[in-house]
Amino acid sequence: MLDDSKILSHLVVPAGVTISLIALTRYLKSRDSLNKVKFPYPPGPKGLPLIGNALDLPRSIPIWEGFAQMAETYGTSTTDIMYLKMFGTDVVVLNSSETIADLLDKRSAIYSDKMENPSRLFHEFFNIATVDRYDEGQRRAASRLLKNLGEHPADFHHHVQLATGSLALSITYGIRVDSPKNPYFNAVEEMLETILPALVPGAFLVEFLPFLRHFPSWLPGGGASSFGERVYKYSLDSITLPMQYVTERLKAGGEISGSLVTRCLDKLGVLREQNVNEEVIRNVAGLVYLAMADTTNTVLNTFFLAMARNTHILDEVTGGERLPEHSDMNELPYVTAIIKETFRWSPPVPIGTTHRLMEDDVYKGIFIPAGTTLLENIWGICHDEKVYPDPELFNPGRFLGKDGKIDPSVKDPEARIFGSGRRICPGRHFALRNLHLVIANVLTAFDILPPVDENGNPQPPPPAFKYSQVRLQQELGFLPGS
Ligand code: HEM
Repeated sequence: MLDDSKILSHLVVPAGVTISLIALTRYLKSRDSLNKVKFPYPPGPKGLPLIGNALDLPRSIPIWEGFAQMAETYGTSTTDIMYLKMFGTDVVVLNSSETIADLLDKRSAIYSDKMENPSRLFHEFFNIATVDRYDEGQRRAASRLLKNLGEHPADFHHHVQLATGSLALSITYGIRVDSPKNPYFNAVEEMLETILPALVPGAFLVEFLPFLRHFPSWLPGGGASSFGERVYKYSLDSITLPMQYVTERLKAGGEISGSLVTRCLDKLGVLREQNVNEEVIRNVAGLVYLAMADTTNTVLNTFFLAMARNTHILDEVTGGERLPEHSDMNELPYVTAIIKETFRWSPPVPIGTTHRLMEDDVYKGIFIPAGTTLLENIWGICHDEKVYPDPELFNPGRFLGKDGKIDPSVKDPEARIFGSGRRICPGRHFALRNLHLVIANVLTAFDILPPVDENGNPQPPPPAFKYSQVRLQQELGFLPGS
């Protein structure tokens, strides 16, 4: 059963939160087994007693860029895996697509502590065969976004947030949100704002130091515990308030069919046989907003940033007579290439979420102990210059063949940015449909222009990101054109 603390640990504090006493026990056990077998640990920096490699982690650049740099030294041509010790915890960073596929995909049975019930529900609601049931909601959210962008272009950041948030609340609870003042929208957004600071690199370290959570907040490094309390309160509000709306509406005989929650409640009898009760449904529903909002917003904001920096790209996009529909997506390869390049240039979840190895494993002669926390270096993989020459350049053309169609021989970042194995993002089909629709519509309706200086000269915005696990952008301050 999925309880409140598990929800938090699952997405809110993803990297390292699984590190606990159990992991420590497993770690100690695995050291025993290492003594019995003769396989070496993966390569990695030596580290210091007790704190391990904590000081080897970069401070001036995002952690994922640091991993990519360290991987050049410690990755090997055969495995591309790097080993770190963080305060007694084994951490393995997977630096290539092939290694991720070999371990997290092919050996997924032991490389994931998956929550079975929610996964089944997620699959049921977002699988590729039925995901078009959300098309209408996606269309509504996209057309509201266009309207808002046209009326108040400078607030693009908020329009994006509202479009995604209203879509999440409508598909999950059947709640219609028309303005940012909506109380349900506020509850979930406040919660996200509270938790995001925890995902900066400094906080990443804190996650490996569970004891810091017990420090008073006025001590350096403290604050995690009061922070945790705030997160808990907001998280509870954000999942209980919308549920109350649904149950009260249903009691009053109101009509809110079609949402994820009502469909679950409709078949509660069958679900109970699979150990799914109202609490699980409530938590699954809460997880959808968390998982959907910042990832989707990050991609959309990155797209705006990239377009404002590369106005020549708009010349390649041919405007249409009408706004694109979902059914047009296969006919718009340049839009598809822009989306792939947006994913690649700035992967929204750059080191994935943590996976935990459930039993000792040996891979290509290298020992990985049970309890190891695994991170996917998705950013590094997407910026590998052997695969993507000139990786810092935003260049959608790299995904297109001479015929103007998507070139299948170029590695597709979509294969990695949604995670891997049994924990792979169940919302990926939904996300791709939605992003295609929104981006194709925005490109058809607007020219995205950089800000100008006092002399009217364009000032391309810098590629500045707030450092967080789910990457957020700073306010850009550019206006969409007409
Ligand atoms: C561009 C948008 C998105 C990206 C990049 C993204 C990425 C991810 C990643 C990396 C994970 C963790 C996978 C792992 O542990 O290996 C994940 C999990 C998840 N995502 Fe997404 N996601 C996106 C959109 C969505 C949407 C729209 C939904 C819902 C409709 C969603 C629902 C979920 C859920 C429920 C999980 C937890 C799955 C589990 O652990 O069982 N995501 N996502």
